Amino acid sequence: MCAHIVSVTRRIPRIGVDLLREQPDIELRVHDADAPPTPEEWEALLTGADGVLSLLSETYSGAILDAHPSIRVLSNFGVGYDNIDVAAASERGVAVCNTPGVLTAATAEIAWSLIMAAARRLPEAMDLVKADKWGSWGPNMMLGQPIVGATIGIVGYGRIGQEVANMARGFGMRVLAWDRSPQTKPQDGVEFVEFDDLLSTADFVSVHVPLSAETTHLIDQQAFSKMKPNAILVNTARGPVVDQDALVEALTSGTIWAAGLDVTTPEPLPASHPLVQMHNCVVLPHIGSATITARDAMSSLAARNLIAVLRGEMPEHIVNPSVFEHIHPEGS
Ligand code: DGY
Repeated sequence: MCAHIVSVTRRIPRIGVDLLREQPDIELRVHDADAPPTPEEWEALLTGADGVLSLLSETYSGAILDAHPSIRVLSNFGVGYDNIDVAAASERGVAVCNTPGVLTAATAEIAWSLIMAAARRLPEAMDLVKADKWGSWGPNMMLGQPIVGATIGIVGYGRIGQEVANMARGFGMRVLAWDRSPQTKPQDGVEFVEFDDLLSTADFVSVHVPLSAETTHLIDQQAFSKMKPNAILVNTARGPVVDQDALVEALTSGTIWAAGLDVTTPEPLPASHPLVQMHNCVVLPHIGSATITARDAMSSLAARNLIAVLRGEMPEHIVNPSVFEHIHPEGS
């Protein structure tokens, strides 16, 4: 049996690696470390590989694929795939797979963690306790913004945006949503509105669009100027969707009240960055999908997608199905 070389570019939950290892036709290389591979290590992983179980911290351009023509599939460990030039992959007949669905709830939970942390000033309050500056209980101490009964605006009504909206019902919130693709199915209790109306009405603006040329700096100075002074911006999508300089300005000037970010530009964001230092900005280190359950499911799904492509079977989640259909017209 002809062996396929498969490279896994980081230590991932065992379930996916075990699945790959069990395949008699796969010869496995694993970068078994929590830190990303060095450029030399990455080059060695890609050289001669038929399949790569890739991470969002690696950039796959047309030039990289040209330098490694053996690669037939990039199976990304994540729902986002902005680290891959999908058009370039498609032109070269490389299948691109991702792991949607299994991390929806986990990421929505982090959006909600940020909403609550920013609205009720949890990091500031915890710092006060740790610094022994608690003092007396006071009527004006650590006043935040209410969540119950407030209005949330969901920017990008995909799986994660919908899950955040579902959770908002538990808080008796008015839910507004905007999406770049028109909504075909009406959703119970969700009002689809124009982007500007969402910005000017919402108390919480939660961002869930994928990163693309069209969504880069979607939330810019103009967007902030339309938001309410009590508004809280939450971003669990991708850092470049928000113009960070404009965000610093909006938080400093009081144009908006606070922000909660799980994603930034760059990642990691240095501790000296103004957004990390500001009292009204909560920054997390991109942990949206970081539950044991979600990461196990991502590992398994990424491995299954990769195995399917190498076998000529349609994977569960493929970003560019036309490539696959072209190579295997009858699913053969
Ligand atoms: C994704 O899946 O794209 C996330 O950002 C990783 O948690």
